[in-house]
Amino acid sequence: MVGKMRRALKMPIVRALKFLERKARKVRYGFLPRSDRARSLSLAHSLELSEGMISAAEAAALYELARKVEGGCIVEVGSYRGRSTIALGKGSLDGCGAPVFALDPHEPFVGVLGGRFGPEDRGAFFRAMLDTGCYVAVRLINLSSEVVAPQWTKPIGLLWIDGDHSYAGVKRDFECWRPHLAKDAVVAFDDSIDPALGPTRLIEELVASGAFSKQKTVGKITVLARNG
Ligand SMILES: C[S@@+](CC[C@H](N)C(=O)[O-])C[C@H]1O[C@@H](n2cnc3c(N)ncnc32)[C@H](O)[C@@H]1O
Repeated sequence: MVGKMRRALKMPIVRALKFLERKARKVRYGFLPRSDRARSLSLAHSLELSEGMISAAEAAALYELARKVEGGCIVEVGSYRGRSTIALGKGSLDGCGAPVFALDPHEPFVGVLGGRFGPEDRGAFFRAMLDTGCYVAVRLINLSSEVVAPQWTKPIGLLWIDGDHSYAGVKRDFECWRPHLAKDAVVAFDDSIDPALGPTRLIEELVASGAFSKQKTVGKITVLARNG
């Protein structure tokens, strides 16, 4: 250990800090077999090991939704580097074990808010799944959501949509998964409180149609439940 520390101190400062951070992580989590980590790490610790675009409160809300899914599976549209996926995966493992299907092509894509996405995110996603052990629950489908939905056969208990936030994009994603929703399914949308974004408009339409009711809003996430 002393030898390793000495070697670390000879490295340029940034590399040394990264090295020490990795060592600290290993001391904290590394003694667990990877497949046991997902159950042993708290949600907060798991989120520390991931990158993404949702807050701790939003992750906690997704965790609770995933924990309650009894029948059917969980589908995520837009996984990026795995932060929301971890919330869903941990919720599933701490709850009823619903399989989590994470859909993201991880191909070059520019979001409506200017965010740039691409293949680097695939590497970070894999790393996050390994570091947290969430791969036990999560199945990555590395394709665009609308390509996969027509062949889908499993009822969905929780649909989480965080992909393309343009109106056309989010409507397409919602409509292509809608036929697969279980009777008691809930649907959660990110970026759903800014009136300029597609999810907000789509949610207003779905509620006005009488087919869905607003269950709750946490941060920028809105959760809808099916009526009847
Ligand atoms: C805002 S990020 C997702 C953030 C992630 N849920 C988190 O918690 O950090 C949007 C992601 O949607 C993906 N995406 C865009 N269009 C998609 C589509 N049609 N199907 C699946 N994923 C899509 C992008 O590649 C990008 O990684």
